[in-house]
Amino acid sequence: MQQTSPAARASELRRELNYHNLRYYQMDDSVISDGQYDTLLRELQEIEREHPELQTADSPTLRVGGDPSPAFSEVQHSKPMLSLGNAFDFEELEAWHRRVTERLDGAPFDMVCELKIDGLAVSLTYENGLLAQGATRGNGTTGEDVTRNLRTIRTIPLSLNQGSVPTNLEVRGEVFLPIEEFRRLNEERAERGEPLYANPRNTGAGTIRQLDPKVTAARNMQIWVYSLNSTEGVEFIEGHWEALEWLGSVGFRINPENRLCRTLDEVQDYYQSWLERRHDLPYETDGVVVKVSPLALQDQLGIVGREPRWAIAYKFPAERAVTRLLHIGINVGRTGSLNPYAVLEPVVVGGATVQHASLHNEEDIRRKDIRVGDTVIVERAGEVIPQVVGPVLAERTGAEQVFCMPEHCPECDTPVAKTEDDAMHRCPNPACPAQFFELLKHFVSKGAANIDGLGERWCGILIKQEMVRDVADLYRLEKARLLELERMGDKLATRIMDNIEASKNRPLPRLLFALGITHVGSEVADLLSQNFIGVEELSKATEEDLTEIEGIGPKIAESIIAWFQEPENQRVIEKLRSSGVRLEQEALPVAVSPSSDAAPFAGLTFVVTGTLSVFSRSDAEGRIKGLGGKVTSSVTKKTSYVVVGESPGSKAAKAGQLNIPILDEDDFVRLLESPSEALAGDLQGNLV
Ligand code: IVH
Repeated sequence: MQQTSPAARASELRRELNYHNLRYYQMDDSVISDGQYDTLLRELQEIEREHPELQTADSPTLRVGGDPSPAFSEVQHSKPMLSLGNAFDFEELEAWHRRVTERLDGAPFDMVCELKIDGLAVSLTYENGLLAQGATRGNGTTGEDVTRNLRTIRTIPLSLNQGSVPTNLEVRGEVFLPIEEFRRLNEERAERGEPLYANPRNTGAGTIRQLDPKVTAARNMQIWVYSLNSTEGVEFIEGHWEALEWLGSVGFRINPENRLCRTLDEVQDYYQSWLERRHDLPYETDGVVVKVSPLALQDQLGIVGREPRWAIAYKFPAERAVTRLLHIGINVGRTGSLNPYAVLEPVVVGGATVQHASLHNEEDIRRKDIRVGDTVIVERAGEVIPQVVGPVLAERTGAEQVFCMPEHCPECDTPVAKTEDDAMHRCPNPACPAQFFELLKHFVSKGAANIDGLGERWCGILIKQEMVRDVADLYRLEKARLLELERMGDKLATRIMDNIEASKNRPLPRLLFALGITHVGSEVADLLSQNFIGVEELSKATEEDLTEIEGIGPKIAESIIAWFQEPENQRVIEKLRSSGVRLEQEALPVAVSPSSDAAPFAGLTFVVTGTLSVFSRSDAEGRIKGLGGKVTSSVTKKTSYVVVGESPGSKAAKAGQLNIPILDEDDFVRLLESPSEALAGDLQGNLV
C-alpha cells in the first residue's frame, strides 16, 4: 500500500477539520463527535510539530472556531477566548500534571475541578456594576453581540450586588439549555408535528443566536460562570478558587459542584464520581476542567497556541458509537404523523444498549444522506432518545438503499398526505387505529390523566378487545370485564379501577393536555386554564378570544376550534362529562404576590428533583410560585424543602447531608392542599 505524504495528509486533515468547524460553529449541526474531531486535530498537530513548514496561515490548529454570524454585530474580545487541551484518560492527565509540575520547579499547587458544561461559551461585560454587553466566543478573537438575548437569561445578573465591584468587569461562563427544557421544547414540537431538535447543545447555541430575543426568553436558558477575566480593581485575589468565591458573592451563578483539590488523586476521585453520576445532572457535561488555582502560577505557566498550560479538559468517554442501520421503521403518531425510526444492530452507547434511534422525518434522512444498510454514527445525549448523527461514508459498499416514505399509512392503508409547510407526512384518517393507540397512551400518561397501571401493553389489549373505542370508554370499564383478560390479576385490576376513578378529578390543564388536541402541549394547556373556566367555555371560544391570550397564535387557535367542531370530539366530551370526569374548575387561578395572605409559601425556598407522578416538574414549580414560594435548582443551607420524585439523584443526598426536610410526592400534595396546617405540623422546613 502506498503511504500518503505528510503534506497531503495535512492538507486533507485541514480540509476535513475546516468542514467540521463550519458545521459545528456556523451551522450548529456537527456530524462527528468531539472525540473524533479531537483525534483529527491531534493528528494534524502532530504532523505540524514534526514538519513546522507545513503549518499554513489557515490551519485549524491556529483557530478556535468559525466566523461570527453576520446577523449580529461583532465584538472584539479584550483577551482571546481560549480553548482547552484534552486528556482522554488518567495517564494523559498525569502527563499534564507532570509537565506543569516541572515548569513550576516541583512546587505543589492546588487545582480547581469544574464540570465541563456542554453549552456555549459567553463573555459578559459589566460597567459600573451593570450588564453592558454579552458576546459569544465566535472565533475566539471576535464574537457576536448577543446582549439582548443574554439579558433574557434569568440567572445572568443584570446588576451586581456590591458597591465594591470594579468599574469594568468581564466574566466568562457557559450558557446552556437544561435537559428538561430541551425535552419540553421537543414535546411541544412533536405536538405540533414539527421536526425534533437533535440535542440540548445545538438547540441552546441556536437559541442564543436567535434574532428575536423573545424566543430566547421563552426557553429558560441558564449559565454557570467559570472565570473572572481580569482581577484589576478587585481586592486581592490569590487563586481561581477565591475568584470563583468572589464572583459568587457579587451575584454570579457559580456551580456548587466545583471542588478545590490538593492532589491528583482527589482530581481523579472527582472525575470518577461524576463519570458515574453525570446523568443525574439537569444539564449535559462532557468532562471535568482541571485548573491550576494560584493566579501567579497561571501567569507563570502561560498560554501555548490557543490553550492555557494551566488548565486541561479531562474528557468523559464519548457517548457515540458506530453500528449498522438494518431497517427504517415507521411509527404513526397521535396526530397522524409518520415518524421514521432506525432499527440498529444493537450497540452499547454510554453504558446503555441502543437498538432504536430517532430519524425525525424524510427530509432529515435525505439531508444527512442516511441509507438503509449504512454504517452509522449513533449518539446518546443525556437521557435523550438516541439519534442517528449520520453515515460513515467510507464504509459504503454501494448496496445501501435510499429510503422513501410509504405512500399509504402502514397501519390503516389510507393514502398519506404531505403539505409544503409541514415537514411531516401524515395519515389523514382520524379513525386510524395507530393514532388512537397513541392517543390512549398519551391520555393515560403521567402528565395527562395519569392512570397508573394502564401501560402501553394494556392500552393495546383494551383496543384490540374493543373494550375502549374512545378515551371516554375508560370510564365505563368494569372490573369484572378487566378480570377476564389474560394475565390480569385482581390486584392490578383494582389498581387500574382506582386510578381511573382518581383521574376523574385531575386539574383542568392536565385534562386539556390529555385530550390530545394538536398544538395543545402542556404549556398551552396551562395558558388555556388560566383564561377559561372549563371545557364548556373553551369549546365556544372564537379565534379572537383565543389569540388574545399571549402565547396563543392563530395556528393553535385554529386547531382548538377545529377540534371542538368535530362531532366525534363533541360526543367524547359529553361522554366524559356524563361519566363524572371533571371538565370545569371552580375558579380561574389567581396570581399571588409574596406579601399577600394567599402566599403561605412566602419566605420558603424549594428544590424539586426526580420525576413526580402527578405533576410535571414545571407544574410543581408553578404551584410553589403560585403560593408565593421560591424555586431554586441547587440545594443549599437556605433551602427549606426538597421535593423528591422518582430517581432523584444527588440533590436528595445533599439535602440529607444538610439536614433539609425531604418531601415525597404525597407530602408535597398535602402541603399544597392545606399549606398552613402542614407547615404548622410535621412538615416544618428551614425558614429563611
Ligand atoms: S475554562 C482558559 N471552564 O469548554 C479556559 N471552560 O474546550 C477556557 N467549558 O470554550 C475555558 N465548561 O466553552 C472552562 N468549567 C469550564 C467549562 C468550560 C465548559 C467550555 C468552554 C470552552 C471550552 C473549551
